[in-house]
Formats: sequence, C-alpha cells, structure tokens
Amino acid sequence: MPKRIIVGNWKMHKTISQAEALIRQIIELYQPDPSVELAVAPPFVALESVNRLLTTTPIKLAAQNVCGKNEGAFTGEISPPMLQELGCHYVILGHSERRHLFGETDQAINEKVHAALQQGLQPILCIGERLEERESDQTHSVIQHQLQRGLAGLEAKDLENLTLAYEPVWAIGTGKAATVDQASEVHSAIRSSVATGWKLNPEHIRILYGGSVTADNAQTLFQSPQINGALVGKACLNSESFVKIAQLAALDS
Ligand code: 13P
Repeated sequence: MPKRIIVGNWKMHKTISQAEALIRQIIELYQPDPSVELAVAPPFVALESVNRLLTTTPIKLAAQNVCGKNEGAFTGEISPPMLQELGCHYVILGHSERRHLFGETDQAINEKVHAALQQGLQPILCIGERLEERESDQTHSVIQHQLQRGLAGLEAKDLENLTLAYEPVWAIGTGKAATVDQASEVHSAIRSSVATGWKLNPEHIRILYGGSVTADNAQTLFQSPQINGALVGKACLNSESFVKIAQLAALDS
C-alpha cells in the first residue's frame, strides 16, 4: 500500500502571521510516522514564511492553484516556476471552488496539470460530482468526464507524480462527509479507470478523499483500502484536529 497522504487545504484563511502561528503549532504537535506524508497548502502569500518554518520537518508544502503558463502578461497569476522556487512540492488543481466559483474548465485544469508536471510540481487533481448529479445517477459519468479531460495527454510516468482527490461537492464544507461505502465505490471506479487507461498497477494510484473530513470520522474513512489519505479543509485550520487526522492515517493506528 502506498504511503497515506494528508493534505491541509487552508483555502483563503490565515494572514502571514496567523499562518506562521498555525504551522508552529502543527510542527510542535506532529509526530512523524513513516506510513504517512503530511502536507499543508497555505494561501500564496504565506508560502514563503511557512516553508521557512518547515525546513527542519518532513512536512511538505503545497499551493492551492497555479497558472497553466510559465510566464507572460497574465495579471494576477502565479506560475509553476514561481511555486517551484518557493519550495512547493504539490499543487492542488481543479478544486470544486475553482471550478464552480471561478469558472475553471476541464481544459484549463488540464493545461495546469501539464504545466505543473513539467516544472516538477506534483498535481493533486480534484474531481467530484454535485448533489443534483448524484441524485440523478450521474456520479460516474461526471467523474469519468473530469478524469478523462483532466488527465488528457498524460503518459503513464506522469501519473506516478500525480495524486487524485475525490471531493464530492455536496460534502465540502457541509459537515456531511461521504460514507466510507460511498467514497470507496467512487474511488474504486476511479482506480480501475485510470489503471486500465494508462496500464498502471491499481495499487500505485493514489486517491485521497475530501469533504468534511474530521478527527471524528477519519478513522472510519481510513478503514477502506481504497482511501489513500485525505484532503482536509475546515479541520486543518485547527492544529489539534489536523494532527489527529494525520495520526489516524498511520497504517498501524
Ligand atoms: P472541508 O473539509 O471544509 O469540507 O473542505 C474540504 C475541501 O474542500 C478540501 O479541499
């Protein structure tokens, strides 16, 4: 089984000084475990100061978005080389908030995936259906669509440097996480589709679950061998609950 990965998506929370305070608390509480990888995704402006505090720890740095172009007249955008120089290891792409609040298309997300990989940044590609899509039995077609478009043009070796995150939109920020059965069913479909499409060993495909993960429900979710970790929103803004989730992810916990 691959290492479990726990990623804290801080979204648009924490100023630079608040981010420093939070990461100091996380570092103080966190006891690294060889079966778990921990990563934090602070807002862009806090990446440098958080990274400075992470240098003596195994905690990895992630960004929440990136531009699909390396440089040019793209006001307000941040490029893959900028993130790479800042020390980012991962970049979250295709988050449902980017898709639905900021109109990101599968095509734009695919461009970002390619640009990130070219720069040595590992994409965490988010996919997930909306409530009305689940209720009208479209979950699998939506997931397949996002997957095929998001991963278009990638080679098998690229997939080794990419992590998928299943985040059902109805579970994000609602306190209503998917059940372990609901998540496992979709993870299993994602895994077999990617394994077949790119001729990969299904066990090497990393799929995180995201959507109202807490220190209370993480253990149940991690019972499923389909769930290789979590992308955590609200609960990662509290150092104790975030570190607890990481501890529960340890394979012998
Ligand atoms: P919540 O954990 O707050 O539901 O957010 C999940 C998420 O969007 C992580 O990317």
